[in-house]
Amino acid sequence: MGEPIVKIVGVTKRFGAVEAVANVDLEIARGELFALLGGSGCGKTTLLRLLAGFERPDRGRILIDGQDMTGVPPHLRPINMMFQSYALFPHLDVAGNVAYGLKREGVARPEIATRVAEALALVKLDGLGTRRPSQLSGGQRQRVALARALVKRPKLLLLDEPLAALDRKLREDTRFELVRLQEQLGVTFVIVTHDQPEAMSMASRLAVMNAGRIVQTGTPHELYERPATRFVAGFIGIANILQTAPGRWLALRPEKIALSADRPATERAIAGTVVEVGYEGDRSLYRIALADGSTMRVAQTNVARARESAFKRGDNVWLGWSDDAGQVLHE
Ligand SMILES: Nc1ncnc2c1ncn2[C@@H]1O[C@H](COP(=O)(O)OP(=O)(O)OP(=O)(O)O)[C@@H](O)[C@H]1O
Ligand SMILES: [Mg+2]
Repeated sequence: MGEPIVKIVGVTKRFGAVEAVANVDLEIARGELFALLGGSGCGKTTLLRLLAGFERPDRGRILIDGQDMTGVPPHLRPINMMFQSYALFPHLDVAGNVAYGLKREGVARPEIATRVAEALALVKLDGLGTRRPSQLSGGQRQRVALARALVKRPKLLLLDEPLAALDRKLREDTRFELVRLQEQLGVTFVIVTHDQPEAMSMASRLAVMNAGRIVQTGTPHELYERPATRFVAGFIGIANILQTAPGRWLALRPEKIALSADRPATERAIAGTVVEVGYEGDRSLYRIALADGSTMRVAQTNVARARESAFKRGDNVWLGWSDDAGQVLHE
């Protein structure tokens, strides 16, 4: 991947008894939109704060652009961070909020004016420079915070849950605005999120974290199709986990299983009863009870289908899949 912009080598950070970040190795390539994905408390923010220099590692090294960051304070790193709670200054207008960091750095007034105007244009807030944060929508406030982070022209932008404050619809629209902006600027973005579809749809690559560790890194497609562990299989999308031997499991995605009324000709087939029908418009997500008491999730797309869902609760059905439909797991 060439010289990575970020190289994290064996980094550990403890808070008392808690190992917030545990022996993390990670490389991020220049120009990537990299996502850190994991549940609450798994260490995502701590890892960003270590990168930005707000925390010091107990062990390990962080290199940015080939330079060892040990002992380099936050303001001397080629990084900017958009915090999880990106509080804007309520008493400053939009332009004042965006200009704040540049003023503190002592940048000359005319240059500040140019750069603030540029940053506001980038996030499509031109003309709103004199509004107060209280006069903006949630999405617009989010974009002010983004402009404030971009105006310093960092090589690396760290965004901690940048879309968390938005409602679902706006969140989905803003995802692609962020991706476009990132591509246009060519700045490397590291985005933290606990929203798995968001990470999947935005990131060029992502890392799944659990209890301070990175459990797997890859493209969204690699993580979905080839999860390494039961944890990753269950965290990224929905997975049926079947134990096939001691210490050996098969992760089978719901859409890789066919549902039919009659026994299918596939390599694997098992009978069951529909216990849940989740109609989602584009697809139906079924839960099927098997004879051994376990259940499996099966998805069927509803393209060109006249009925709501092909099967209803209580129907006896067959599940069929081919031998190569699943992913073999060893942990
Ligand atoms: N300053 C601190 N002092 C003590 N413990 C801390 C501190 N900061 C974080 N922790 C602990 O470290 C762990 C990781 O926290 P972190 O904030 O990195 O999680 P996160 O993945 O960002 O979670 P969330 O999705 O909820 O924001 C947690 O157990 C947290 O309680
Ligand atoms: Mg956090």
